[in-house]
Amino acid sequence: MDIFNQLINHTSVRHFKPEPLSDKCKAELVKVAQSGASSNFVQAYSIIEIKDPQKLAAIEHIAGAPNYITQTGVFYLFVADLYKHQQLLEQADLSNHALTTMEPFIVSVVDTTIAAQNMVAYAETQGLGICYIGGIRNDLPAIAQLVGLPKLTFPLFGLTIGYPESRNEVKARLPQAAILSTDHYQPLTKQIVDQYNQTTAAYYAHRGSNQQETNWQTKMTEFFREPRRPDVADFMKSQGFTGDFPD
Ligand SMILES: Cc1cc2nc3c(=O)[nH]c(=O)nc-3n(C[C@H](O)[C@H](O)[C@H](O)COP(=O)(O)O)c2cc1C
Repeated sequence: MDIFNQLINHTSVRHFKPEPLSDKCKAELVKVAQSGASSNFVQAYSIIEIKDPQKLAAIEHIAGAPNYITQTGVFYLFVADLYKHQQLLEQADLSNHALTTMEPFIVSVVDTTIAAQNMVAYAETQGLGICYIGGIRNDLPAIAQLVGLPKLTFPLFGLTIGYPESRNEVKARLPQAAILSTDHYQPLTKQIVDQYNQTTAAYYAHRGSNQQETNWQTKMTEFFREPRRPDVADFMKSQGFTGDFPD
């Protein structure tokens, strides 16, 4: 499949063959991840391969991802990482203050995500399936303890990669008119939302598994009814990210 068709046919995979990835394949995945662009070349991320079966089981439990972390080809934890830069500042006898503010935090989140998505795109061209695992943020302190994260690091998500046992149907994205505009911001229109609700309702009603009577609007309204993971901000603070906000 050419790269355009590969990318537009992406679906998350949650059921893998019990087949580990070769060392060569893993080295290539990390190489492409590292080859992404990086804001001011800060390269503010770490990738931790989790191999220990007990740690994999613990992460699977935290993330609520039944069998797709313990039964996969490889599992990586993607960590936004400014601790390396703190080490450099320490060597110059400088304060880490500039690293603790919101801007470098955003930079590290963007760098980490670009690296991960490079890995994802390449993995899919190799016939591998992937699923991002934001569920690791269900218990950030436990994840930090499990892998020994220092200050100024933040575990963003996991990535499980393996040979697919089964694949889901492709989910139709929002129409381009909902996300692309020219020269000016374009809010959603009722027409676009109604149309997309019909598309997604048909998808959820007829998909191969876990069929539901819902649509995108209903899902989003439920999802954002209450704040999600309200303890994330506390964890950020405990990791030394003070933000630019006064207390
Ligand atoms: C940052 C991020 C975190 C995610 N976390 C999870 C997760 O914890 N568990 C899961 O099953 N899927 C997770 N997903 C997958 C999304 O649910 C999925 O990408 C979305 O529903 C669109 O479906 P598709 O990837 O099959 O097109 C995550 C995706 C992203 C980008």
